[in-house]
Order: sequence, then structure tokens, then C-alpha cells
Amino acid sequence: MAANLIDGRAIAAQIQQELASRVADLKKRGVVPGLAFVRVGEDPASKVYVGRKEKACAELGIVSETHVLPAAASEGELLALIAKLNASKNIHGILVQAPLPKQISEAKVFSTVLPTKDVDGFHPVNVGKLMLGDATGFKPCTPAGVVELLIRSGVKTEGAEVVVLGRGNIVGKPMAAMLCQKGSGANSTVTICHSATRAIAAHCRRADIIVAAMGVAEFLKADMVKPGAVIMDVGVNRVPDATSKTGTKLVGDVDFKNVQPIAGRITPNPGGVGPMTIAMLLQNTVRAAEFSVLN
Ligand code: GUN
Repeated sequence: MAANLIDGRAIAAQIQQELASRVADLKKRGVVPGLAFVRVGEDPASKVYVGRKEKACAELGIVSETHVLPAAASEGELLALIAKLNASKNIHGILVQAPLPKQISEAKVFSTVLPTKDVDGFHPVNVGKLMLGDATGFKPCTPAGVVELLIRSGVKTEGAEVVVLGRGNIVGKPMAAMLCQKGSGANSTVTICHSATRAIAAHCRRADIIVAAMGVAEFLKADMVKPGAVIMDVGVNRVPDATSKTGTKLVGDVDFKNVQPIAGRITPNPGGVGPMTIAMLLQNTVRAAEFSVLN
């Protein structure tokens, strides 16, 4: 692995090892962490993501169950399932995989999951706690994973100029909120760039750290990056590829081949942010189970 790569797989494995002793402690107290996944429809990417999360749960000793509703399911059916999971004693965390079909309001669904079981950190109470710097809430897994990667790679965020590319509710907005808080792995000066931003390249060239999370394949080019900058690539984009058997391949939001030689540190993709999203989900679920012992 090239010297400037941030190895998300290795760091995620280390976190999973740390969590194993917390799971063992819970088991001694008669509590087995339980996580419910909910999928609606047969979106191929969602199936892959949930499959990876199920496998990681099994490896750590978290019991998971997956509920699949048909693509035509009504919002009412999904809300009824969430209500059942909210009431279940054995389920400490609930994850409803996005995106959801058009007839279902994601906002309504995310605000129906009990805040204490909201291991995605999408409930308005947890979003509010994040904004307030109240650490008792759950933080969304992908941006929390980026922060953890920065901390464990020794990247200094204090006073750093950070550009976040993308303003989505799952990554961009919470990412910016986390990095501008007081505290370690934060204390940065954050700029959010999006589709209406003028002169994105000029913003990027000022940045010490860039988090690319806009969902545009290989958007961040070498001439937009200050030499030595730290590049965190959150993107997962399927693009045509005549050389592959399937005719497609996955690429990030960063033109990795050309950016890697000038970056100070950079996440590979795959093998960078992706494994950390899963590690943070496991961490949130263990925390949710620990709360259940206290309450
Ligand atoms: N879809 C893409 N990322 C996520 C995530 O972190 N959580 C959920 N529930 N759905 C997603």
C-alpha cells in the first residue's frame, strides 16, 4: 500500500476488535446486542450494503435480523413495522436502508425510529444533538467514520481549512457539523460546496482537507487540490467500463489516479471510508445496547 494511503480496512478492523470486549461485557450481563435492518424493494446497491452490514454484525456477535418489504409497500406498512421494532426488547438498533421508494417519506420514517434505537443518527433529536455538540446522541455513521479515520491517522483538524463537497443529510451536512465543533478531530474552519457554489475549484485549492461526498464520479481532479492536502473520498459511483465482465465499475468522487501522487494522505476507494461506515454502525449498536442496560 502506497505510503500516503489511509487504510480504512485496517482501522475498521482495529475498532471492531475494541468493540469485541464491550460485546463480551454485555453478554456477561445477559445482553446480546440486536440490530434490525429494514429494506424496501430490491435496489441492488442497498442489498449489497445491508449484506455487508449483516456479515459484520455476525462477526462481532451482534444478532441481526433483516426485514424486506416489497417495493410497492405503503408508508403505513413501513411505519407499522418500525413501531414493532421500537417496542422489541431484543432490538437495540434499527436501520432503514435509504433510498426508499417514492411513495414513502424518508423524513417521516427516520423520525419514527426511536431516538434511542436510531443507530443511523438520522432522527431529528439526534441531528439536533449533533448540531448542539451534545455527545449523548448517535452520530451518522459515514461522517463519524471520516472523523475517526482522521484522528487515527494523525491528521490535524484543529484550525484546518476543510472543504466538504456535497450537502446531503447523510454525509455532507453532518460532516460539516462535526468538523466545526469544539474538540478533538474537529475545530476546523468548514466550507460546504454544492451544485450552486461558484468557483468550486478555488475553494478546493485552499483546503487542507477535502471530504468528497457529492456523488459525482471522479469529480475532484488534481488541479483542484493543494499539494499535501488530505483527501477523504466518500463517493460510490457505478460507471461504464468496457474492460470489466459486468460492463461497469465502481469509482469514487475523486480522480484517484491523478490526485493520489500530490495528496498528503488519501483514502483508497474501495477500502477507505466504506469499511468505517460499517465500523461506526457496529459502535452505535453496541452503545445502544449499553444504554439499554443503564435504563
Ligand atoms: N444509504 C446510504 N448510506 C446510508 C446510511 O448510512 N444509512 C442508511 N440507513 N441508508 C443509507
